[in-house]
Amino acid sequence: MPIELVAENRTPKPQPKPQNVNPFAQQRALVEKNLSQVKKIVAIHSGKGGVGKTTFAVNFAAALAIGGKKVGLIDADVDCPSCHKMLGLTGRVMADANQRLVPMNAHGIKVLSVGNMVEGENSANIMRGPIMFKLISEMLYKANWGELDFLIIDLPPGTGDNPLTIMQIAPLDGMIIVTQPQGVALVDAMKSANMAKRLGVPVLGVVENMSGEVFGEGGAKNAANELSVPFFGSIPLDKRFREHSEAGEPAVIDKEIFARFSKVIQAIGL
Ligand SMILES: Nc1ncnc2c1ncn2[C@@H]1O[C@H](COP(=O)(O)OP(=O)(O)OP(=O)(O)O)[C@@H](O)[C@H]1O
Ligand SMILES: [Mg+2]
Repeated sequence: MPIELVAENRTPKPQPKPQNVNPFAQQRALVEKNLSQVKKIVAIHSGKGGVGKTTFAVNFAAALAIGGKKVGLIDADVDCPSCHKMLGLTGRVMADANQRLVPMNAHGIKVLSVGNMVEGENSANIMRGPIMFKLISEMLYKANWGELDFLIIDLPPGTGDNPLTIMQIAPLDGMIIVTQPQGVALVDAMKSANMAKRLGVPVLGVVENMSGEVFGEGGAKNAANELSVPFFGSIPLDKRFREHSEAGEPAVIDKEIFARFSKVIQAIGL
């Protein structure tokens, strides 16, 4: 039987619509809508743990509030939160009639921390990625932040799930890197900057924390130069930070420390 040749159908097939590249575009749209009355959203990060990110975030927020700004603070360290502790916040977060979280108030700052959402100070918040994602995204899109000049987001260390979530779903104006001056901290600060760059988050600049005899001086400035971003100044290793945070108050209630933070804020120039 002769082979029947069938002409190839050259009619172009309908092309699938281009897919959205951000897998969390839906959540991001909700966050953008909910934070439409927030003028600037700034994350505080560093790859290394214990370098003073939360101390900086809390005092940065408090110094802005003392300066008359409307400020919010999100503790995005959902499994080991500490902003609430440093601000002496002991109550529980409530929801309003529309089931939106109502940020708490401490030292003139609106605050949301998982530390005020769980029972018992020492209970372990054992959670996998999806639960952390839910908690972080709800603090961003399901909370009644109202009008704010600044929303500061304190990120946990590392380049994993939680910082990634914030960088993908929050419309960040930028990220400030806080680091100690010594080599082991700087390596992780660079990782943090490179993560932000890859995710399209502007790195606003670098702050050196715990500067002085113990950890050294100048390393953060060199890192900022290497990254071609501004250096915003240094904050000394000073026991008053620990003393005030143990007392549940920001160290910037001390005039000298406030002056130091004011210089950094001026350098940031937001
Ligand atoms: N400039 C400083 N001088 C003295 N102590 C400081 C200073 N900055 C932070 N600390 C203290 O260092 C400890 C760690 O600070 P903090 O919790 O802010 O670090 P972190 O980077 O947020 O840690 P983590 O990575 O666990 O989130 C705290 O006890 C804090 O009081
Ligand atoms: Mg912290």
